[in-house]
Amino acid sequence: MAEVVIVRDQEEAGALVAGAIVDLITRKPDAVLGLATGSTPLATYRALANRIAADGVDVRGVRGFALDEYVGLPAGHPESYRAVITREVVEPLGLTPELIRVPNGDPDGIEHAGADYEAAITAAGGVDIQILGIGRTGHIGFNEPGSSLASLTRVKTLTEPTRIDNARFFDSIDQVPMHCMTQGIGTILRARHLTLLAFGEAKADAIAAAVEGPVSANQPGSAIQLHPHTTVLVDEAAASKL
Ligand code: GLP
Repeated sequence: MAEVVIVRDQEEAGALVAGAIVDLITRKPDAVLGLATGSTPLATYRALANRIAADGVDVRGVRGFALDEYVGLPAGHPESYRAVITREVVEPLGLTPELIRVPNGDPDGIEHAGADYEAAITAAGGVDIQILGIGRTGHIGFNEPGSSLASLTRVKTLTEPTRIDNARFFDSIDQVPMHCMTQGIGTILRARHLTLLAFGEAKADAIAAAVEGPVSANQPGSAIQLHPHTTVLVDEAAASKL
């Protein structure tokens, strides 16, 4: 059963997760972080940047793996998850860019990209702490409903609701890619500690299904129930259907 922590707001959740990550890095300077995109973890990244600066934490050896990437965006596109992770995480935290991996969404070589990413995570010794958001559809990473609970990193097709949600980052929905490369649910479950964050009413159904619903591929978030160490940090609104 996941531990559920109800927080006042994103800043309080961010401070809690940042504290756990700083403790981890202090114990293990080459800690492996699992990084999520989306708006949900941004307050956590800000809190973490502040803690690192205030405490003078040495993060030069910290390694990281992003959950997912769009397929087919031009290199350097500002909304590619490589660009987002660089802008929101690597630069403000002062991480070493070469140690932070993002799945390869280049259509050239896409047939090897999933297996290569899995091998890199394994070679790093696995993810120590995985930051997760959840989509309205219940997706984690980009594992949309119907994804196998044992799935590994691979190409997936984005659902229409997810493309509509993510259209806010692009000029129009036509520019939102149709496909992505995402860690699988099985990949995510291999991380040693999962922290799932959700804020606001729009996430209440997905959180209720993830925390209390039947474990099912139709609700990818429900896979957290299979993990022995999951912390769910939610505000009152996201917790309102628990
Ligand atoms: C995105 C990402 C997910 C994220 C989710 C929720 O599309 N691929 O990793 O958790 O959708 O996004 P947000 O945090 O902006 O609500």
